[in-house]
Amino acid sequence: MDVRMLTVGAIAENCFVLRRDDSDRALIVDPGDEADRIMVPVRELGLTVEAILITHCHFDHIGAVAPVARETGAPVYCPQIEVPVLADIMSFVPGPFGPFESYDADETVAGGETLELAGFEIDVIFTPGHSPGHVTYSIRDEDAIFSGDVLFQGSVGRVDLPGGDWETLLASIRTLVDSHPPETAVHPGHMGMTTLGAERASNPFLAELAS
Ligand SMILES: [Fe+2]
Repeated sequence: MDVRMLTVGAIAENCFVLRRDDSDRALIVDPGDEADRIMVPVRELGLTVEAILITHCHFDHIGAVAPVARETGAPVYCPQIEVPVLADIMSFVPGPFGPFESYDADETVAGGETLELAGFEIDVIFTPGHSPGHVTYSIRDEDAIFSGDVLFQGSVGRVDLPGGDWETLLASIRTLVDSHPPETAVHPGHMGMTTLGAERASNPFLAELAS
């Protein structure tokens, strides 16, 4: 698997462009801002983007969905109960950020689906707690998850925003840890890469999960 991580926007959000080895079919996860930067590897490698996958609809993860969808023609997969946020982004943006262009989702996910896109089989896992509709995309055969703002290196997603809840988030993290091997690569929505095993062993927020 070839993964390009682009850290974009005012909140330093991680957008990912991924493909199977040297395939020309690609996916984009969470195009949060700076569409032109996100499109650089797509253009340079001549990639066909088969889908844009959204983990959750906080503005820093979706700010570039509309322009990236327009340029690639790719369908946008959005957590079902957060579709109204994507469709009216600026009503949910705090402070001086934006403007961002809204987008009407092409497909919805709620967790439990298996997507076949760009040569990948992708399990969609419902992982609420940071936001009410948050999902994690798990790439079969690659031991890799794209987990948005569920889990970070040494930290976890904040739970003080609307729809956030700590016990729910912890249960979501437990679901990921219990269903994946420890070497699973965590592609997080902020900060650097980590693994589920490393976080289970040393992340202070996950003390309840440590074995
Ligand atoms: Fe978030």
